[in-house]
Amino acid sequence: MSENWNQYFSRIRLGRWTDNNAVCWMPFHGFHIFVGGETGYGKSNTERVILSELSYGIDQGAVEVIGLDAQLGVELQPVQDAGYLKEFYCGDGAGIKSDEWPEGKPYEATFAEALEQHLEQGMDRTKHMRRRGINEWKITKTDPGRVILLDEAGQLFRPNVDPKIKKRLITAVDTFTYQMRKCGYVFVACTQQPNLKDIPIRHGFTFGIAHHQGTPLGYQQVTKLQLDFPPLPLGVQGLAYITSGGKRVARSQYMPTVLPKLRGARQVNESRIPAIAAS
Ligand SMILES: Nc1ncnc2c1ncn2[C@@H]1O[C@H](COP(=O)(O)OP(=O)(O)OP(=O)(O)O)[C@@H](O)[C@H]1O
Ligand SMILES: [Mg+2]
Repeated sequence: MSENWNQYFSRIRLGRWTDNNAVCWMPFHGFHIFVGGETGYGKSNTERVILSELSYGIDQGAVEVIGLDAQLGVELQPVQDAGYLKEFYCGDGAGIKSDEWPEGKPYEATFAEALEQHLEQGMDRTKHMRRRGINEWKITKTDPGRVILLDEAGQLFRPNVDPKIKKRLITAVDTFTYQMRKCGYVFVACTQQPNLKDIPIRHGFTFGIAHHQGTPLGYQQVTKLQLDFPPLPLGVQGLAYITSGGKRVARSQYMPTVLPKLRGARQVNESRIPAIAAS
């Protein structure tokens, strides 16, 4: 039986709602996800939840994850080692001198280049769809769904980063988030910095997950939904507000730093996508 990968890619189990203990589903395909939160409150755990939930699709070749880790690879190296990433960028090539970069290629430019290269592939998909009058990408093992996973995005927007490189990064992310919603791409960005000013890529994201933030996090910056989340309790990891849930709080699944190696991953369970009637 051929599987419906679009349905598979449409949402994942983030964790459970704290008020009624029901499974908290997170919409996936068709959204771009911004994960904010202070250090140590569960952003990288949330990334691993996403990878773990998608492990069957990744293992089957129907989902590809492009990992970019702006913290020199510290966060995503273990999932790269466990086989979850199709490509992994963590600053390789930085410092190499060329005509374009006589002083050596800046670290942040390696991320801009990676994103631009993937954007080009995404553009090809859009053209392909337009030519055929398709309005939603059909995900198959030959034309897989793709996740662009950018951890510690705020690192790329520190004050001393060359504005020209920042501009390239912003353009690439904006184009992804505004134009690639229907062609099999989901962009997931994580950062400690909650402010649009500190992390100017935020406005294109359509779904937000807020872990503990010292200051109230106005997700209207992300979603235009006017949801303003107050800070979650200090010292409690894994709790998060998510945009579609109003002021309800979910607890994310706990994921160990080292995920099981991908090899014949099992589909999570048959109720992964519950029947429409039940949802
Ligand atoms: N849902 C959860 N349940 C229990 N513990 C959790 C949960 N989520 C995260 N933690 C714990 O919190 C710790 C920090 O989580 P994580 O590394 O995901 O934070 P982070 O927000 O990515 O931090 P940083 O900004 O330093 O990268 C983890 O080691 C984990 O033990
Ligand atoms: Mg982290």
